[in-house]
Amino acid sequence: MAILVTGGTGYIGSHTVVELLHKNEEVVVVDNFINSSSEVVDKIKKITGKEFKFYEVDILDKEKLQKVFEENHITEVIHFAGLKAVGESVAKPLEYYNNNITGTLVLLQVMREYDCKKIIFSSSATVYGDQGVPKYVETMGRGKTTNPYGTTKAMIEKILEDLYVSDNTWGIVLLRYFNPVGAHESGLIGDNPNGIPNNLMPYVQKVAAGRLPELSIYGNDYPTKDGTGVRDFIHVVDLAKGHINAIEKLEKDKTGVYVYNLGTGIGYSVLDIVNTFEKVNGVKVPYKIAPRRAGDLAELYADPTKAKEELGWVAEKNLEDMCRDSWNFAKTN
Ligand code: NAD
Ligand code: UFG
Repeated sequence: MAILVTGGTGYIGSHTVVELLHKNEEVVVVDNFINSSSEVVDKIKKITGKEFKFYEVDILDKEKLQKVFEENHITEVIHFAGLKAVGESVAKPLEYYNNNITGTLVLLQVMREYDCKKIIFSSSATVYGDQGVPKYVETMGRGKTTNPYGTTKAMIEKILEDLYVSDNTWGIVLLRYFNPVGAHESGLIGDNPNGIPNNLMPYVQKVAAGRLPELSIYGNDYPTKDGTGVRDFIHVVDLAKGHINAIEKLEKDKTGVYVYNLGTGIGYSVLDIVNTFEKVNGVKVPYKIAPRRAGDLAELYADPTKAKEELGWVAEKNLEDMCRDSWNFAKTN
């Protein structure tokens, strides 16, 4: 009886595999390395001292995916595999819809064929759109998404809800992540985007390492405490642990569709990140103020109450931990 992790060598997937192995779960990972590397497999084994099965498989390849289910008794799937760069999704919508939507459809068809009907899906706070208030709670509906990436997340949530309507023996958890940052404390795995990063923390890491000259802070005239954007940054290890609680929920309640925010509930500004990163790591992060980035909201953070009450999950790590572990990973990679 194994848990299949799609995209399990990626940033969040690798940390989740580590937590699953710590819990002595049997784990099977599939990934096509479109945004990760084969070295991560050995790094996970090194961190945990545990073995797991790995398949280099594109989830769009139905036959290869069927083989994975043929060779293993998969009881639950944690589905991370997907493309995630917002800007790239605007330039390559067909690639994003094909990979994320078709990939998920193929996965769900194979799961149904093998009577595996429990899935945890990596969704995003982006599905809320602009709700006009900064604190996002699950009772708010999905809003208007502003890019193809976000639209794939909203569409997959809807597909999973429709699937449950058609067959209420499915157990589905939609986890809406806020802003994952940080890395495993070993420094072996972390967020390692190719090229110039889009997201704040990987950019800060490269500036601190002297590989990029300065950070552009996109706007300091937002109606926030210091004028810069505010987000709910969450340590990736806390986020990974949330998936263990979600698995336990499905093992207990078996069927249904459940939606949870995974965030800390605390909003920190871009300047909070820069200042804390400099302070805890003793490094400089030169920055300039640049115009606002199109599509950015001023402030958003999670109401994480539902995950606490129903999953028994709360984020435990603070901003210092996030900045320290991000730098520890960046320094050695
Ligand atoms: P990531 O790119 O590091 O990991 C995704 C993994 O999926 C990669 O290893 C990639 O090689 C693999 N993959 C992609 N398409 C595949 C395919 N067709 N077949 C097999 N493997 C494939 O991204 P991440 O940050 O770990 O994100 C994991 C999931 O969480 C994604 O679905 C992402 O959209 C979602 N998410 C991420 C964030 C974030 O800020 N990191 C926020 C909200 C939601
Ligand atoms: N920012 C900068 N400079 C940079 C990068 C970012 O000032 O070089 C600012 C942004 O303007 C924003 C904040 O830092 O105010 C966070 O930006 P990120 O790009 O790190 O994260 P976003 O909140 O824009 O987006 C993230 C994920 C999306 C996901 C969304 C959900 O990247 O995939 O959270 O809330 F959809």
